[in-house]
Amino acid sequence: MLKEYPLNRVFTLIEPGPALLVTTAEGRKKNVMTITWSLAMSFSPTFGIVTGSWNHSFDTLMKTRQCVVAVPGVDLIGKVIGIGTCSGTDTDKFKKFSLTARKAKEVEAPLIEECLYNMECEVADYVEDHGIIVLSCLRAWENPDRAERRTFHAVGDGTFVADGEKFDLRKEMASKLPPL
Ligand SMILES: Cc1cc2nc3c(=O)[nH]c(=O)nc-3n(C[C@H](O)[C@H](O)[C@H](O)COP(=O)(O)O)c2cc1C
Repeated sequence: MLKEYPLNRVFTLIEPGPALLVTTAEGRKKNVMTITWSLAMSFSPTFGIVTGSWNHSFDTLMKTRQCVVAVPGVDLIGKVIGIGTCSGTDTDKFKKFSLTARKAKEVEAPLIEECLYNMECEVADYVEDHGIIVLSCLRAWENPDRAERRTFHAVGDGTFVADGEKFDLRKEMASKLPPL
């Protein structure tokens, strides 16, 4: 069961730079791609992803101006790599990787039930020279039922790191943090 996640906490899902899944939909055809180039930009629910026309998802994203950005746990790492190494042009990736699509509230692109978090987004800007798509999050969801809570991060050379020890320095940096 998905539980609504507060918009003013959405930046904390992106700032640590986890591997992401981005879903899109054009008519009844849904698709999903892997993104590890992402950018937290402010405390507001706005962030960037980097992609381009070599991906089928990019065309749909530019056409529909909508997507869902989902944060998978490390238990999905094999699927995330598989999703990022085939294309929606010839593959139904939801079927191939046994992902459960759930209806979003604000966008046509589907939520992914198996992910820890899902962010319903619209395209706010496109910085073409750098392939940066700026996304505004309209609504976010958490799946509190997933047992594996660790996200994972791409090093960029085909190796990955899962979340490790957590350090709480909230008191020390309180002057730089928005209220919880
Ligand atoms: C680990 C991993 C990370 C990736 N990160 C990005 C990324 O940040 N930006 C991007 O454009 N493509 C990235 N890709 C490639 C796309 O996910 C890939 O081209 C995908 O097949 C596109 O699917 P589509 O054609 O169905 O849109 C990544 C792939 C993998 C395996």
